[in-house]
Amino acid sequence: MCGIVGYIGGNQAVPVLLEGLKKLEYRGYDSAGVAIGGSRICVRKYKGRLSVLAKHLSSENLDGTMGIGHTRWATHGEPSDMNAHPHINKTGGIAVVHNGIIENYMQIKAFLIEKGCTFVSETDTEVLAHYIDYFYDGDLTEAVRKVLREIRGSYAFAVISDKEPDRIVCVKKENPLIIGAGEGENFIASDIPAVLNQTRNIYLLEENELAVVKKDQIIFYNESGGVVEKEKFEINWDVSAAEKGGYEHFMLKEIHEQPKAVRDTMYARVKREEPGIKLDKITLTNEMLRKISRIYIVACGTAYHAGMVAKQALENMTGIPVEVAIASEFRYVCPTVNRDSLTIVISQSGETLDTLMALKEAKKKGSRVLSIVNVQGSTIARESDDVLYTRAGPEIAVASTKGYTSQLTAIYQLALYLACLKGSLSETEIEEIKSEMLKLPEKIEKILEKQEEIRSFAKQYASIEDVFYLGRGLDYALALEGSLKLKEISYIHSEAYPAGELKHGTIALIVPGTVVIAILTQNALYEKMISNIREVKARGAFVLAIAQEDMGEVESVADHVIFIPRVDARLAPVVGIVPMQLLAYYMAAERGCDVDKPRNLAKSVTVE
Ligand code: M6R
Repeated sequence: MCGIVGYIGGNQAVPVLLEGLKKLEYRGYDSAGVAIGGSRICVRKYKGRLSVLAKHLSSENLDGTMGIGHTRWATHGEPSDMNAHPHINKTGGIAVVHNGIIENYMQIKAFLIEKGCTFVSETDTEVLAHYIDYFYDGDLTEAVRKVLREIRGSYAFAVISDKEPDRIVCVKKENPLIIGAGEGENFIASDIPAVLNQTRNIYLLEENELAVVKKDQIIFYNESGGVVEKEKFEINWDVSAAEKGGYEHFMLKEIHEQPKAVRDTMYARVKREEPGIKLDKITLTNEMLRKISRIYIVACGTAYHAGMVAKQALENMTGIPVEVAIASEFRYVCPTVNRDSLTIVISQSGETLDTLMALKEAKKKGSRVLSIVNVQGSTIARESDDVLYTRAGPEIAVASTKGYTSQLTAIYQLALYLACLKGSLSETEIEEIKSEMLKLPEKIEKILEKQEEIRSFAKQYASIEDVFYLGRGLDYALALEGSLKLKEISYIHSEAYPAGELKHGTIALIVPGTVVIAILTQNALYEKMISNIREVKARGAFVLAIAQEDMGEVESVADHVIFIPRVDARLAPVVGIVPMQLLAYYMAAERGCDVDKPRNLAKSVTVE
């Protein structure tokens, strides 16, 4: 989704801003622009890829050592030069870049039009530039504060003024914004990779905080205007972790990073030589757990699919009833959340607004919140009572892969941890599951060795337009994730169905040649799945099965089988998803799709 960068220092701003924006491309966008500050502000912004902006900028010399830049993902108004950010006031002396949504912009716009302002774009952002101008009385920070009192919504924005060219004023509410601290120069950005080539020292803006960023000084203010002292934190991951490292796409690189992501997520928590599970930073006590009558899981997209697996793991291992809800639906479908609930929030980015709003709703109702998050210091992590970090490293491709498998790894740890607290599993059972978990990375490696087999299958079937994914129980959760992977990056229509449900209507769509992907990782459901495969075969479907090694019989029913190593059925999703990720990847690559940045999508979805 939209990306913000800002620079103030001694170097030329244009190259720094372009480099930062490049690192934010993965978030998804449809136009880009910069405003270079000084005693006169110059704005350049264009529809299309960053390369369009870069090409225009290369033909002129925009001199200036401070500025702001933006990649826009359209919400209010189509992608166009006019709607691209930065937006300016009528004199062009104030420029703003903004992520998120100003919900009451229509009222403000009407008010400003009455005061004589003319609007040139369809965006909500443009009101910010005019409104700051309206309140401006020689103090940019004060004008921004006055605006903050009037606007509603969720946002992060950065403002510069030609009257105060020594500063960038920026604000964060429910949208990410970080500040990178350099020597005689400072940076702002929506995400850490954008500044990592410049500095490893980062400040995180908290909710409703405002920062005044100058080249030698950064001052943080809380909502009531008081100065806040903040600790810098140092990024310890390598820049190369956010680069492609020889792979054609980030997605393929991230698929291959899964053994490491899973191993790292277990590190120091799941140990062969030590009994139980160690989750150091979790403060949930046995006493608190005893009061919990129900667990709610909230998440979106892939994280929601991980949540479906979590429901089964938690119910089986702890006996506590679990509801899993799509975050944007949470407040409508889970009205019973209360003080006796534990809400588990799952999010790779830790910034998904639907998930954050569900978290806030749960807290409002008195629930304790534990989050499973990948990005350290993200808003969801900071708003939660407890955080269990996955350690997947930066996930850049829009399609989540290592994010998902590391979420599953964390979920099993949590389920075991709670089972230990509650005494719902015996020590032997716990040690058995742990020992199976520790084998997961090498099982993923085994599947990655099948890359060529999957690639050649994808090559053969890349032109299909419909696919059905079928599974039962945990394999249905896997089917949903496999189907989402395929559709979001290859644009092939695909649907996931509980295999037994197909005959209640959807089987009408199965005609000769329809491709069906049947998932069989659950030994207990094997026979029923075989019957369902026979049903679609009888209608002429082509069946690709994904099955455990010891399910040889499936070869006589399906047209092609990709075998995965034998794995404990409870943990099978971590292994079973990998061939489907590779399949989606190669289908999309074969069709010439923009795999890492699929159309209409954003990595971090920061609007509701
Ligand atoms: O960052 P989050 O895990 O909160 O993101 C949730 C979804 O937006 C995300 O999983 C999305 O569905 C991905 N594109 C799936 O590959």
